[in-house]
Amino acid sequence: MKIPNMLDAKKRNKNEVKYTEYNVDFNNFGENKKFYVRTYGCQMNEHDSEKIKGMLSSVGFKSAEDINDADVIILNTCAIRENAHDKVFGFLGVLKHMKQSNKNLIIGLCGCMAQEEGVVDEILAKHKYVNFVFGTHNLHRLPNLIKENMDTDKQVIEVYSKEGNLIEGMPVKRASNYKAYVNIIYGCDKFCTYCIVPYTRGKQRSRNKDDILKEVNKLVKEGYQEVTLLGQNVNAYGKDLNLGYDLADLLEEVAKTNIPRVRFITSHPWDFTDRMIEVIKKYPNIMNYVHLPIQSGSDKILKLMGRRYTREEYKTLFDKLKKIDGIAITTDIIVGFPGETEEDFLDTLDIVKYCQYDGAFTFIYSPRVGTPAAKLFEKDQTTLEEKEQRLYRLNELINDYSLMSNKRMVNNTYKILVEGLSNKDGMMYGYTETNKLVNFKGNEDLIGKIVNIRIIDAKSFSLDGELVE
Ligand code: 5AD
Ligand code: SF4
Repeated sequence: MKIPNMLDAKKRNKNEVKYTEYNVDFNNFGENKKFYVRTYGCQMNEHDSEKIKGMLSSVGFKSAEDINDADVIILNTCAIRENAHDKVFGFLGVLKHMKQSNKNLIIGLCGCMAQEEGVVDEILAKHKYVNFVFGTHNLHRLPNLIKENMDTDKQVIEVYSKEGNLIEGMPVKRASNYKAYVNIIYGCDKFCTYCIVPYTRGKQRSRNKDDILKEVNKLVKEGYQEVTLLGQNVNAYGKDLNLGYDLADLLEEVAKTNIPRVRFITSHPWDFTDRMIEVIKKYPNIMNYVHLPIQSGSDKILKLMGRRYTREEYKTLFDKLKKIDGIAITTDIIVGFPGETEEDFLDTLDIVKYCQYDGAFTFIYSPRVGTPAAKLFEKDQTTLEEKEQRLYRLNELINDYSLMSNKRMVNNTYKILVEGLSNKDGMMYGYTETNKLVNFKGNEDLIGKIVNIRIIDAKSFSLDGELVE
């Protein structure tokens, strides 16, 4: 049994990252069994789930459409806020019930929650029916762990606090045939004081550019229309490799593969260079869309958060990005960080008015065990009610600006990558280059194609359009 430890997870070593090729030498031990994977959290987790499905398929498991038909259920979890935890523990209760009527059901838990000491302790103490737990650093060990559990019928817990080698060539079962995630950097060394990611995902480790380009070129051959380069902080790409090759260089080479659309998330303002902006401007197939989390508009709070920029520095970067033709910029904002006063909050509203974001994800601060801000939270005076009020006021403003930016698009024509049928009858949906959701009347032949759509109506969170022949 290997269980995680936050203090170890926090340590950073200078060891060079080693790369290992994925390899399983199992027979088809999953034959005649079906899996179901439930994913919580960010795109990184979504992509990890694609690898989980890929690995399971490679040892004979089939995918179950319905969770009730599954022999193996895996929860790929998120630890970013307490409500993510609550959802998972709530769902574990449902699974416990399912297991009472199906003794052979195998239940696994992985992802960021598995990296937390407290969670593993709780599973050991109260959730004996969970068959196996593995962390973010040993995703590739999944086939071994399921097999071990099937062979021994004992609970298997294998979570490492420290990152191991970077594994290349894991099988992937992608959710889409048109758009794909490609990891470029794992982990994060920013240690923003509220954030658990540097503990659950380990130190910053970049993939080799040749491996990345090989993956993208393969996707191009397979007809993929869009790649999203993934990292907790993509703008730090290459820093750990010391080769003088950074995200600007990588974006340029990825653009030259001629994949129609290149995206990248998430950006940390501190690592955003002028060269990156120039490259985005230069290549039409690098999408004019940037997700640029600000977190707060108050210099005092930004400092407490350890964000390494002031509001003026953020604005300067924002202004430079705004000069990119037709660009859309979205952000993340936390309200109620410990010590945030009404005045600090007004600074946040003020910068939102300045930036007029196309959209934003907004959150109430949630204390994470082991992070520096959790200690500040113990002395925090602001009530939850006040924080909820702030969130409400912030969302009103954010939604006004989203609607305004969407309304400006009405009567203009945009390129949409069509993704599928929306819930509404005969309506299709897809995304603009600026990552805006558009619904329009069309047929299924269009899925996976880039089409011209004229926008006819705008809402806060989506647009209605019509096909332009
Ligand atoms: N509480 C609330 N929001 C958080 N985020 C990260 N950690 C926390 C936390 N402890 C938000 C940040 C980040 C986004 C992914 O989640 O805004 O950008
Ligand atoms: Fe968390 Fe900050 Fe790293 Fe983003 S940059 S993952 S918010 S520590």
